[in-house]
Amino acid sequence: MPSDIFDRERAPVERSKAFIDGGRMSGDEQRTAFSELLRGYEKLVKETSRLVKFSDRNEERLKTANVVIEKQRAELSEYAENLEGKVAERTAELAVERTKLERLVRLGTVLGAEHDSSKLMEMILEGARDISNADGGSLYIQVEDKELAFQIVQNDSLNIRVGGTSGNQPTFPAVPLFDAETGEANHRNVVSHTVHERHAVNIADAYESEDFDFSGTRRFDEQTGYRSTSFLTVPLMPRSGEVIGALQLINATDPETSAVVPFSPEVQGFVEALAGQAAVALDNQNLLAAQKALLDSLIELLAGAIDSKSPYTGGHCARVPALAKMLAEAACDATHGPFRDFSFNEDDWYELHIASWLHDCGKVTTSEYVVDKATKLETIYNRIHEIRTRFEVAWRDAEIAYLEGRLAGERDADELTAERDAEHARLVDDFDFVAECNIGGEFMGDDRIERLKEIAARTWVRQFDDRLGISDDEARRMSAVPEAPLPVTETLLMDTPGHIVPWHDGKVPYQDNAYGIRMDVPENAFNLGEVYNLSIRRGTLTDEERFAVNDHIVQTIIMLNQLPWPRTLRRVPEYAGGHHEKMDGTGYPRRLTGEELSLPARIMAIADVFEPLTASDRPYKKAKKLSEAVKIMSFMNKDAHVDPDLFDLFLKSGVHVRYAEQFLAPEQVDAVDINQYLE
Ligand SMILES: [Fe+2]
Ligand SMILES: [Fe+2]
Repeated sequence: MPSDIFDRERAPVERSKAFIDGGRMSGDEQRTAFSELLRGYEKLVKETSRLVKFSDRNEERLKTANVVIEKQRAELSEYAENLEGKVAERTAELAVERTKLERLVRLGTVLGAEHDSSKLMEMILEGARDISNADGGSLYIQVEDKELAFQIVQNDSLNIRVGGTSGNQPTFPAVPLFDAETGEANHRNVVSHTVHERHAVNIADAYESEDFDFSGTRRFDEQTGYRSTSFLTVPLMPRSGEVIGALQLINATDPETSAVVPFSPEVQGFVEALAGQAAVALDNQNLLAAQKALLDSLIELLAGAIDSKSPYTGGHCARVPALAKMLAEAACDATHGPFRDFSFNEDDWYELHIASWLHDCGKVTTSEYVVDKATKLETIYNRIHEIRTRFEVAWRDAEIAYLEGRLAGERDADELTAERDAEHARLVDDFDFVAECNIGGEFMGDDRIERLKEIAARTWVRQFDDRLGISDDEARRMSAVPEAPLPVTETLLMDTPGHIVPWHDGKVPYQDNAYGIRMDVPENAFNLGEVYNLSIRRGTLTDEERFAVNDHIVQTIIMLNQLPWPRTLRRVPEYAGGHHEKMDGTGYPRRLTGEELSLPARIMAIADVFEPLTASDRPYKKAKKLSEAVKIMSFMNKDAHVDPDLFDLFLKSGVHVRYAEQFLAPEQVDAVDINQYLE
């Protein structure tokens, strides 16, 4: 309300006041002033009364408004309280879902990393139960398209743990996918139905369900006193679409009240998502296992082929892995000494396994005649030369018979006989010597080589052409010397250009030296010369043949380096390719020293030496006793050919005995006093 509303009425009041104060007003003036005062007063009363009325009305309005406001405030506060509750509820729900989602993501990662299939299946079931808060559950795997076999069974209330890491094997009968009599799909069982239909089945109460046969469940409940109520069954279906099994969860439980509740649609969604991930993980693992089995079989097939190439090395490729594994286990078990920190994970074991099975794979390229060369003159041989020689003998027999007839009685018979007998005796003696040289059992000293040369120099006359019935290769080699007219005087034993086999196409091996090979390469691939071979000082192999035998390790390295090894197997070529190296760097093919070789490679080297020393399945070779084999190894150890720490471990850990008991004939296994060999 404006504040100057009484300003006009205030003026006569002021004037009257002045008059009373001063007393200077006339009678008329006094009347006028009084009537003005009266009018003002009346107006004031009127105005006041109007104001009072106005105020009263406002107060009424105000009261009503206050009531409304109060009501609205109450409503608003109730609404706010509700909203708060709802938000809290939803937040809690979201938190639960977020936790479930996090678990799902975590499980997905963990599932992908697990290599053990029974552990993996256990994790899948546990994860699904965790997400759904299920009291129990089972995981089934489809077997040969005909049934679903129990793999893992769990129930918390009944304290059941079967399959996986529990140590108990499932004994429940498998669920048939088809009716045994009619052959029709089994839709009575909810699990097989899920698999056939490829979608989840969610049942709130099995006892109310008409769709499936739960008689087995009821029998189980009767026996155990359990009440199997809510069921969620989902197929395990990888992306490729083939169902590989199923997951069944029983009795979802309210986390707060512990009451059995149905599986909610949200939970079903999570379990289905998990089942999808799980199926992919399982399927990947199945594929990996199948590929690994195939790889293992191929490797064993190759090792078997190499072993069967030669009875002299039979079983070597299969026994070296066993021995290498025993030695690596002993190194892992060591709690003190040089191997206290040594350990192998699953991948490392597999790497050693593959490397040891393949360590001699290069032998597929080694000629059998070299691997098994038992005598010095043995070779792949064109027998036309032998047959021609028989013709030569027959030629001479005929000649001799003719001469004997002609010459009978001309000389003193005794003299002739003595001469002939002496010559025969010398021939027998010389042949004995040559034959003995051929065996290679004795070292060929200079004196023996000298005698051999003397015998070799004896001459005979060849009547037949030695260039008939031979191969183009041999003809080419023989063409290095011009053909002499028949009859030809030849020495009894010969080294001829025809005996020298050059490198194929003139290509000397390892010239590019891509793999750091440091082996002395002989000038020719082979030399079949008779004197040359019979003069081999030790054993039966020429330098060329020794090279061909040793070349197997280079071939192993080349072959293995060409294979596309996955990261976890990348050291296979190194492990396999180092087993002929020696600790002092005098081995082959790279002349590596002990420090340059990995421990698994050094383990392989010991296994590769010990196996042939003890092998009992080599023809014409007496199997050594265990003590003899250990003694020979101890010499190799003294000569720095094998790793001294591994040799100690080999004896101290008792690997030599364990290996012997498993692979040696009982009569070979004698007592070994290891103390004399230990440092
Ligand atoms: Fe080898
Ligand atoms: Fe070997």
